[in-house]
Amino acid sequence: MIKPHGSDKLNPLYVQDKAEREKLTKEAAGLPSIVISSAAAGNAVMMGSGYFNPLTGFMNRADSLAVAEKMTTTKGLFWPVPIVNVVKDASAIKGAKRIALRDPNVEGNPVIAIQDVEAVEQFTTADMELMTDKIFRTRDPQHPGVGAFNSVGTTVISGPIKVLNFSYFQTEFPETFRTAYQIREAMSQMGWNKVVAFQTRNPMHRAHEELCRMAQEQLKTDGILIHMLLGKLKAGDIPADVRDASIRVMVEKYFPPRTVLITGYGFDMLYAGPREAVLHAVFRQNTGCTHLIVGRDHAGVGSYYGPFDAQTIFHNEVPKGALEIKIFDADHTAWSKKQNRVVMMRDVPDHKPEDFVMLSGTKVRAMLAAGEALPVEFSRPEVAKILMGFYQSERGKNAK
Ligand code: ADX
Repeated sequence: MIKPHGSDKLNPLYVQDKAEREKLTKEAAGLPSIVISSAAAGNAVMMGSGYFNPLTGFMNRADSLAVAEKMTTTKGLFWPVPIVNVVKDASAIKGAKRIALRDPNVEGNPVIAIQDVEAVEQFTTADMELMTDKIFRTRDPQHPGVGAFNSVGTTVISGPIKVLNFSYFQTEFPETFRTAYQIREAMSQMGWNKVVAFQTRNPMHRAHEELCRMAQEQLKTDGILIHMLLGKLKAGDIPADVRDASIRVMVEKYFPPRTVLITGYGFDMLYAGPREAVLHAVFRQNTGCTHLIVGRDHAGVGSYYGPFDAQTIFHNEVPKGALEIKIFDADHTAWSKKQNRVVMMRDVPDHKPEDFVMLSGTKVRAMLAAGEALPVEFSRPEVAKILMGFYQSERGKNAK
């Protein structure tokens, strides 16, 4: 199986030994503690899971700036996005060398990790601007990722961590949340070596289903890893449980058994387009996947990124040899009325825009909210039914 990023063996930071975990949990109760941001808790879950191998903890100011600026830590590790524990006020842990990090997303704020504090530093305004520019390519506070990144504070607490649990991901998504080491194990049990990963934060319609099939056929992979984000999303995105149910019904009905693994990871969406795509590639390599599908407007939002910027970053900015995982560049995919199947637009140069069945997200939401069936060329009926159920429920009606 493909090696993890930056080391021969995966080194997840979750404390796997139960007795050791209990000991640390007891110790944590007596340590100075701080409630961290949702983003930092997601980072802890990702490090605990082995997804962020070979990181051993939260980055300091120098590493954060180096990573933002040139996608490399001060020690020369290729890494695309700063992995930080940033807070507004660190006075509760002033002077402490070892602290407990409390989870903002679980009632009662239980301890999610223990951190050995190496430094407590301040990001300056110039630091924040530089990181925002580099990671998000915009400083627009309306961008959901920029807004989140700039709202958590500027005090950066760095140092190694030990992770004690996987926050709400394991309890709320027991069938879907998987660590990188669990995925490696599942793939090796299936006898899979060549595997393509599909990143998603949305339900899968016909275009996405066929995208996976095309990648599998063209690359001749042993399997497909559907790997969905289970963390926080901007208002208007479909909640993870609804998306999960719709993906499961689609796979069950339309893929042969034992060809697809449906899994998820615990991280809040950054909407950072190209930089997030590179982070996606790093952590899919850590799951053992050999390929990652990167299609149209991957990890994007609004019109902040060009439709294929998340592909060009791999060709123009990721140094050769920095990653072992390969990208499957996908063109815009949609149903062709002329060929009666889903196609990639680059494969049908004779087509005009009206030859495709395409619906905007806004149109899809409006149709489902009004109880109108989606065209079968756009969405499998079983998927559309689940989404319609959501949009007609109280929760769906309140979703902006
Ligand atoms: S993402 O934020 O997780 O990237 P989404 O779940 O919508 O959003 O997309 C999942 C993957 O499918 C991404 O690689 C994206 O580029 C790709 N994708 C989505 N829709 C299309 C499409 N119509 N054509 C080509 N690729 C697409």
